[in-house]
Amino acid sequence: MSDDEPRAPVPERPLLHGVRVWLRPLEARDMPAYVAGINDTQVGGRAGYRMPMSLEQATAWHGRTLEQSMSGEGFFFAVCELGDDRFIGTTWLKEVNRLDGNAELAIYMDRDHIGSGWGTDAQHALLAFGFGTLGLERIWLTVHDDNARAIRSYEKVGFQREGVMRRSVRVDGELTDSVLMSILRDEWRSSEKPSG
Ligand SMILES: CC(C)(COP(=O)(O)OP(=O)(O)OC[C@H]1O[C@@H](n2cnc3c(N)ncnc32)[C@H](O)[C@@H]1OP(=O)(O)O)[C@@H](O)C(=O)NCCC(=O)NCCS
Repeated sequence: MSDDEPRAPVPERPLLHGVRVWLRPLEARDMPAYVAGINDTQVGGRAGYRMPMSLEQATAWHGRTLEQSMSGEGFFFAVCELGDDRFIGTTWLKEVNRLDGNAELAIYMDRDHIGSGWGTDAQHALLAFGFGTLGLERIWLTVHDDNARAIRSYEKVGFQREGVMRRSVRVDGELTDSVLMSILRDEWRSSEKPSG
């Protein structure tokens, strides 16, 4: 999408927001920034991507996310600073299981928005959507056991470690451990941040 194409104005009072960020649907125009993140070792690499992604591949993937959003199987958001609509990261709920009331969270922030609270704030917004809007009971994720920043961020929003998935991820030819974490609706309520 070029800058000339119409796009929704930045809402004054976004439906999904944290203290510093808001969430809007991931759009085709986000794909260049999305790919830049995926292909960065400190961004996509930390989020588990091991194969470089092309813009064409990302665009095809984005088409599939639209189908999932329509069917309610997944919800894919761009994270933006409040008052701006540029992509600074992405966060999703995928594998949405309505029967058992659970879904998997994924997130990465771009290289300029790591380590200063933007991603933690985005998680608060996504949890409010998952628990508050979708009515989920459990939101879970997996994370490499050496991703201390991400684990700390997840713990700050209330995720608890459930266990170690031993030798579940191959990194540089070596099988390594990952951590299974989750937050339940009651835990979210007790850690919920006020929002306007
Ligand atoms: C994971 C991510 C979303 C977290 O969001 P964030 O806004 O960067 O997180 P925050 O800055 O709020 O918090 C990071 C915490 O980790 C701590 N931390 C940073 N590096 C650390 C390290 N090496 N060891 C231990 N703690 C560390 C920070 O001190 C901070 O904790 P504090 O607030 O108690 O001081 C973001 O860093 C990111 O997108 N990372 C790259 C992709 C990724 O790893 N995605 C997750 C894949 S499962």
